[in-house]
Amino acid sequence: MKPIKMALTKGRLEKDTVALFDLMGLDCTAIKDKGRRLILPVGDKIEAVLAKAADVITYVEYGVCDMGVVGKDTIAESTGSFYEIMDLGFGKCRFALAGPKNIDFYSGFKSKTIATKYPNVARNFFESKGMNVNIIKIEGSVELAPLLHLADAIVDIVETGNTLRENGLEVIEEIMPITARLIVNMASLKMRKAEIEQLVAQMEEARRKSL
Ligand code: PRP
Repeated sequence: MKPIKMALTKGRLEKDTVALFDLMGLDCTAIKDKGRRLILPVGDKIEAVLAKAADVITYVEYGVCDMGVVGKDTIAESTGSFYEIMDLGFGKCRFALAGPKNIDFYSGFKSKTIATKYPNVARNFFESKGMNVNIIKIEGSVELAPLLHLADAIVDIVETGNTLRENGLEVIEEIMPITARLIVNMASLKMRKAEIEQLVAQMEEARRKSL
């Protein structure tokens, strides 16, 4: 049987996932010493594919990877179709609306400008409040936008809160908690149901052990 292809979000989520694979007793030698390689065996049942978060979803959606590990932040922003089958618990952070300290964001009548890497998340959040805002897409270090007076506030990921604090910004409102999720291609879940269910059960058991 060919291995299950699992796309992992490069970086911290990849490391946390490999730690979980270790707990499952899978051979992680290749992925721990990967050099610049992007596709690596984990045990004999999994082939790990290392990709950027948004690409993990693309590869799973198109079925070239059966499964993927990706943050709820990227899932919330995506419009793709796939199953989200497990909360892996690691990669904990949250989406928040943040802005300059001691400013009442909700006061005034002028429509607000929001900078974000996550325009869909930001749009949904303000739509749920019935608020009309201008959204400007920024690629990274979104905290710069209010500092440069491009935006009144940002919608971004907050983990420790250090980036906000060190730049004179603060959380105005929490939007949603984020953790890493296991996602599955819709056809793969049908075609390889037993294998995937077994793998997920093993991951769940290892996860419980790690708590
Ligand atoms: C994320 C996020 C914040 C920071 C929050 O950026 O966009 O800038 O982490 O973390 P903290 O609350 O622990 O300070 P990331 O490091 O992923 O870099 P990027 O902005 O270039 O995407």
